[in-house]
Amino acid sequence: MKTLKFAVLPGDYIGPEVMSVALDVLKAATEPAGITLDYTEAHVGGAGIDNEGKALPESTIKICEEADAILFGSIGGPKWENLPPAEQPERAALLPIRKHFNLFANLRPGLLYKELTDASPLKTERIPEGIDMVCVRELTGGIYFGPKRTETLPDGDIQATDEMVYKKSEIERILDVAIASAKARSGKICSVDKANVLTTSVLWRKTATEYVAKHAPEIELSHMYVDNAAMQMARDPNQFDVIVTENMFGDIISDEMGIVCGSLGMLSSASLGTGKNKYDLPFGLYEPSGGTAPDIAGKGIANPCAQILSAALMLRYSFGENEIAEKIEKAVKQAVMDGFRTGDISFGKPSIGTKEMAAAIIERL
Ligand code: NAD
Ligand code: IPM
Ligand code: MN
Repeated sequence: MKTLKFAVLPGDYIGPEVMSVALDVLKAATEPAGITLDYTEAHVGGAGIDNEGKALPESTIKICEEADAILFGSIGGPKWENLPPAEQPERAALLPIRKHFNLFANLRPGLLYKELTDASPLKTERIPEGIDMVCVRELTGGIYFGPKRTETLPDGDIQATDEMVYKKSEIERILDVAIASAKARSGKICSVDKANVLTTSVLWRKTATEYVAKHAPEIELSHMYVDNAAMQMARDPNQFDVIVTENMFGDIISDEMGIVCGSLGMLSSASLGTGKNKYDLPFGLYEPSGGTAPDIAGKGIANPCAQILSAALMLRYSFGENEIAEKIEKAVKQAVMDGFRTGDISFGKPSIGTKEMAAAIIERL
């Protein structure tokens, strides 16, 4: 009998709501295969601050280190926004946990089934076949992690600085992930940058061109400026297959991809690094791409699909349970096709709550 050992970090606002039902789905999907879930819950983010005095308690890191993967909710929100910036959940927990485990590759699958195009704000005529792409976002470099400072200038003005920094080696390793992804898909990569302005982007573009030509000449590589890419994503998302981009551009482009694919509530993600677990598979952190949705928290109406699909990605990448992952993905698709929709994807049609959505998915496993 196989036991899956993972850490569960539900986080804040809708985090615990969607995590609780995602665990129900995981249990229902793995039990018939004789798989046992051995998970330990830990506080992170605002929950860490409120319960243990800090956003990323040592005990939480220890639980993650002892596990083979991390299933993460989302963290942050108005309750902690007045804390000093360095103590806020996002800065004090999410970025450090990504850095601690060296989770440099964030894969965000943008998937809209052909049968569900009415869930996208784009007109069905524009996307008759649905959407299928993946955004490969660099996650531990760039402006998020470069030097930061705020200073008072001699004339009394105040100046704040965030530096965007990239090493060639950091660009190459994320390209490797994009290349592997493209090889399993259409063989096309679009690298998104701002090489007409930023020095880091000049290095990014040069590195991408040389690296792909040398290591994967069969890949069709194109380049696009990020402003154009944002526009193209709304105009014709299907021109993209694999997008590779730096940290902040990937953050922004992937939220846009999320909405053209129906809702942020459907957008899962896998953050993978160099570390391996006891199965010799990538140690990863799996989380919805969206946030804690404070505007709808506590009402039981959040879309749990992103969390459930993130759990499926955990099964696939960190535990090698491809069949069960696929079973979950198919059940999610079937439930939405059968008309079970939370408010974010119902577009005026009757909607259901988080628990009902999960129950409909479990019934279809
Ligand atoms: P958000 O993603 O939380 O919400 C944006 C909009 O999308 C809201 O209208 C929300 O209701 C909707 N939405 C998001 N997820 C949904 C779901 N599962 N079901 C239905 N609707 C959903 O972004 P925000 O409002 O800018 O951020 C809120 C907080 O979340 C902030 O503190 C932010 O820093 C944090 N955040 C955390 C993570 C993370 O932990 N990974 C990611 C993004 C944002
Ligand atoms: C995401 C989030 C985070 C990011 C924030 C909360 C730090 O927006 O995972 O997309 O910007 O990476
Ligand atoms: Mn984001």
